Amino acid sequence: MPALVLVGAQWGDEGKGKATDLLGGSVDYVVRYQGGNNAGHTVVIGDQKYALHLLPSGILSPNVTPVIGNGVVIDPGVLLSELDGLNQRGIDTSKLLISGNAHLITPYHRTLDKVTERFLGKRRIGTTGRGIGPTYADKINRVGIRVQDLFDESILQQKIEAALHDKNQILVKLYNRRAIPADLVLQEYLGYADRIKPFLADTTLVLDQALKDNKVVLLEGGQGTLLDVDHGTYPFVTSSNPTSGGACTGAGIGPTKIDRVIGILKAYTTRVGSGPFPTELLDADGEALRRIGGERGVTTGRDRRCGWFDAVIARYATRVNGLTDFFLTKLDVLTGWEQIPVCVAYEIDGRRVEELPYNQSDFHHAKPIYETLPGWNEDISKAKTFTDLPKNAQAYVKALEEMSGAPISAIGVGPGRDETIQINSFI
Ligand code: GDP
Ligand code: IMO
Ligand code: MG
Repeated sequence: MPALVLVGAQWGDEGKGKATDLLGGSVDYVVRYQGGNNAGHTVVIGDQKYALHLLPSGILSPNVTPVIGNGVVIDPGVLLSELDGLNQRGIDTSKLLISGNAHLITPYHRTLDKVTERFLGKRRIGTTGRGIGPTYADKINRVGIRVQDLFDESILQQKIEAALHDKNQILVKLYNRRAIPADLVLQEYLGYADRIKPFLADTTLVLDQALKDNKVVLLEGGQGTLLDVDHGTYPFVTSSNPTSGGACTGAGIGPTKIDRVIGILKAYTTRVGSGPFPTELLDADGEALRRIGGERGVTTGRDRRCGWFDAVIARYATRVNGLTDFFLTKLDVLTGWEQIPVCVAYEIDGRRVEELPYNQSDFHHAKPIYETLPGWNEDISKAKTFTDLPKNAQAYVKALEEMSGAPISAIGVGPGRDETIQINSFI
């Protein structure tokens, strides 16, 4: 059996956690391939709500082997407390596998993330402050610390000392902060080794064998397409590749093994942090979407910026990810609007533009061109099939599908596992 990828089609928080959890019953492995604890994935099972940051959402399905791939950046303290939290709630996490090649977030990465943001002032990215960017920067600079380094004290010491040699100069001289003592970081990180060791695995080998054994491997992205460092709204992005190509490098699986790429798509748009957002609503409608949709960050508790659905973005996500189908989430949130505007193209300097402009200034100037679709008032949260939906809701879904360039195979009508309409056998 092949591998499939699940990716956020907008700016994150589309409902990837719910979608992964839904698929959990029919897959054998769920692999996180990039990002770190900047992610916040919510899964609602019955009356239980779980907020996952670093762990793959499949960890809640007993038959799934959860894997943290080489492309992820791990804050070991956060990892262990997330595991403890789940264990206390009776979830068995013992099957977790962690790549020895994944990089570690350290206290100096977190500090650098925060001080550089502060230094940027109005130009700040609005990061989650979790040390994500500085950790990926060290990885690319070849001065990072990897999970496998935890098990060799001498190497760990050398690497921490080497990294802090210039970072402390920057912290003290440029940002007027206290130096971080290498031995403190070393002692803290050596202390994680014993607990992390049982999870350590050659994950690419494990996944290759799994695929040879006809197991189903789901590659779960954090963040979303427009937060991708290559394909997103740079520089207002995260420092990794959530797009489907990142699944190959971040899990160590070749593209020939992947035959399905699911885009998770919210029925409207949200974004956290700074950066352009053509359909953003700064009025009562935006406030209503935030309130009804519960649009508050799982990781930082920040209010999410809200706006109407943007079909230009959806088409772009289809293109750069090679999407095979969409899971449309949070349709229920739109219940009650008489008319629902949908952005079908942009106006940029007087021109109509159908595709996402690659030029950042053009995107900053893009004004949404809306088509307005009729809304519905009926409660749709109990709908089980497409035809249970009111006619106008059906038409809204069909219109989005036509504009977005890939079929919609499932629709979310509530946060719970069973509040889902399957159309083209999503699972
Ligand atoms: P992720 O980061 O993509 O996993 O998404 P988040 O968990 O950050 O945000 C999505 C939020 O929407 C969570 O609170 C989910 O429980 C919730 N959610 C997911 N699907 C639906 C849906 O179809 N309807 C409603 N009302 N809520 C949903
Ligand atoms: P999930 O997986 C929404 C945003 C931050 C900021 C930018 C860079 O829950 O969809 P970073 O800390 O990554 O350097 O911040 O990216 N961001 C997210 N926004 N959902 C996320 O994750 C995000 N992870 C990072 O708000 O704008
Ligand atoms: Mg989230």
